[in-house]
Amino acid sequence: MRIEPFELERWQSVWENKVELNISESGVQPLTTAELVGDEAALQRILEVPLGYPQTNGSEELRRRIADFYPGARTENVLVTCGASEANYVSTWALLDLGDEVVLMLPNYMQIRGTANSMGVTVKPLWLRENLSWGIDVDELARLVTVKTKLIAICNPNNPTGATLSPDHCDAIVRVAAKVGAWILADEVYRGAEFDGKTTPSFWGTYERVLCTGGFSKAFALPGLRTGWVVGPPAMVERLWGYHDYTSIGPTMLTDRLAAFALEPKRREWVLSRTRSILNRNYPVLRDWLAAHANVFSHVLPRAGAIGWAGLRVGGNSAAMAEELRTKKGVLLVPGEYLGMKSYVRFGFGGHVEHLQKALERVAEWLDESAR
Ligand SMILES: Cc1ncc(COP(=O)(O)O)c(C=O)c1O
Repeated sequence: MRIEPFELERWQSVWENKVELNISESGVQPLTTAELVGDEAALQRILEVPLGYPQTNGSEELRRRIADFYPGARTENVLVTCGASEANYVSTWALLDLGDEVVLMLPNYMQIRGTANSMGVTVKPLWLRENLSWGIDVDELARLVTVKTKLIAICNPNNPTGATLSPDHCDAIVRVAAKVGAWILADEVYRGAEFDGKTTPSFWGTYERVLCTGGFSKAFALPGLRTGWVVGPPAMVERLWGYHDYTSIGPTMLTDRLAAFALEPKRREWVLSRTRSILNRNYPVLRDWLAAHANVFSHVLPRAGAIGWAGLRVGGNSAAMAEELRTKKGVLLVPGEYLGMKSYVRFGFGGHVEHLQKALERVAEWLDESAR
């Protein structure tokens, strides 16, 4: 099997710790273990956890707390994974075979496209449309889905647009999937990071062939836990566990404990409200900056996530711009090509606000200099 480079991950992992101003992240300022755990006694209990092998599909307690996030789900519906990435990977690996077709929402985090391409699966893009506030065209969806469609893969809330699907669009996806018996893989890793605190409805419970992936990296501000999950019908979750035996075996003892801690009901609310306050404090800085540069960028207000997606009005490929910003201004943002649309850029606004302001000032300087 030949894999294609995962450009976004390479771009970030090579440069994010080398640049002065990193605004390529899609999450908020991460929590420390001490902030998460809070009191000394609880911290001490964490330190005393023996570092043996954990329950490899996730402890009962952690799976119960994850299930609480999905109406009607139970522990047998949950497999704990190493990030949403592993959840997406084992799901794609288990569901797809050479010659299948997958209908993939784009723009998107490109993991499923890369995995499907490496498996010899045909990827048919379902484009989000800027003129529909980054919604889908339901007629186009109906045309794309055929008897060969094994999977419809969506990301809701979406990375990079920050848009969420309307209830009508969710219904349309379920309807066309059911018509041909396709699975829906809903990557919901940004669920819980809505600006207005109204949690995006999950695809869970809408249809019997649904897998929902999620994790702690975005709304929960804990990307370093490397913990995620997939929620699905018990027989499929059992099957995915078999794939997970080959990928990571299980979470670590510490991450399982810390993740269960983060999902204690009161703590979960505290973590999510912290994320919301960062989003609501920082987004206006980016929004006003983009409004001041509306001659250069188009922008549709996001609903969730610490990411602003902006289109270059002149068109072209933003990769050269991103490279110049990195080398000349020490600013790392994400060229849209790495998310499926080359004339766009993604600004991450979830870090320290002063850092964001400084990075945007540098981008403005670069724009001025290149206009001269
Ligand atoms: C849509 C989407 N899915 C999955 C991931 C990977 O998440 P994790 O850190 O939980 O592996 C990302 C990371 O940016 C993402 O944006």
